[in-house]
Amino acid sequence: MRYSKTRPPAFTLSAGPVDAYPEVLRGMGTTVLYDFDPAFLHVYEGVARKAQTAMDMNEPPVILHGEPVLGLEAAAASLIAREDVVLNLASGVYGKGFGYWATRYASRVDEIETDYDDAIDPGAVAEHLKKHPETAVVSVVHHDTPSGTLNDINAIGQVVADAGALLIVDAVSSWAGMETSPAACQAGIYITGPNKCLGCPPGLTMAAVSDAAWEKMEANKDAPFASMLSFTDWKNAWKASEPFPFTPSVAEINGLDTALDRYLEEGPEAVWERHALTAAATRDGVRAMGVDIWPKREEIASPTCTAVRMPDGVDAGPVLAEARARYGVSMSAGRAETLGKLIRIGHMGPTAQPAYALVAVAALGGALQALGTNADIAAGLGAVQARMDQGL
Ligand SMILES: Cc1ncc(COP(=O)(O)O)c(C=O)c1O
Repeated sequence: MRYSKTRPPAFTLSAGPVDAYPEVLRGMGTTVLYDFDPAFLHVYEGVARKAQTAMDMNEPPVILHGEPVLGLEAAAASLIAREDVVLNLASGVYGKGFGYWATRYASRVDEIETDYDDAIDPGAVAEHLKKHPETAVVSVVHHDTPSGTLNDINAIGQVVADAGALLIVDAVSSWAGMETSPAACQAGIYITGPNKCLGCPPGLTMAAVSDAAWEKMEANKDAPFASMLSFTDWKNAWKASEPFPFTPSVAEINGLDTALDRYLEEGPEAVWERHALTAAATRDGVRAMGVDIWPKREEIASPTCTAVRMPDGVDAGPVLAEARARYGVSMSAGRAETLGKLIRIGHMGPTAQPAYALVAVAALGGALQALGTNADIAAGLGAVQARMDQGL
């Protein structure tokens, strides 16, 4: 049997967009209210308050009405003033990419770059900031998804705070899948979204902004205003008493409402545990098949996405195509630098269930075998099951 390319796969184990929770899709299907109707204003304020709880904040986050790339670009445009020196930390494709936005707004962008299977050393950041005390803004990605690797943003945040600079954090694909919060990393702006570990479709940004970052953005005369990129336009929009600057994405807000209820009811610790266990089981299974994972060290491997290094001479493209055609399992390719070199298995929201590690390992192993590469599938599945039985 072959699965058709023009019909949906049986399993979507991607690193985003992810399969949405069915109850989120049902939530999105509720009535689309007029955005100034008091009932919608009440819903919106309630969603903002639930997001505040989920993100462990003292005030609601700013909700921007576009997928998190909008929030990242808005952070660069709003926080970075023309005279600013920025330090961009690049351990992967998204980290590198943020540097291009920063270059648009800053007077100078310095960069610390690592190999894309490694992580940023907080000590190197401290050293750089000591040499360059003029640095106003530092930017970092928590989980650089195209590599499946984590940076230690809490340690980096401490170093940046000690130097008196402001930190922009991209926590798009880590938040809600592991323990992380804007306060723990002392972020100036912490960007995330509901379309990865919260199990919603793409369409919204959630951003925590510190008092110091608000002050800097409000003083930045080049910051966008009357714009979907403007943080200040949307700052108070969560209050039922305040008007929206532009039309909010009503259906996405309804979906986020359900997703936050679901997250808080299940309990963040329980959600993080099933992400971590799914990832650990997947890593064990991949290695037991005789295949390597991409991250250089176990401790930097993400609990929300496992990047699998392709054996020498094997391109990821045909392996992905074979896994989808034979088993109906859709997984993510790498991006830019990592394209062709790895395959990513997402463990985000509804797919953060350990049994999906069995599906992923079987499909990956079968596809590798079909392409003439050795993979010990039985050993892989045994290792997944052992990890499921044993726990973390
Ligand atoms: C680390 C990281 N940042 C930002 C984004 C952008 O998110 P979106 O494409 O949903 O706007 C992604 C998406 O994969 C990501 O992995």
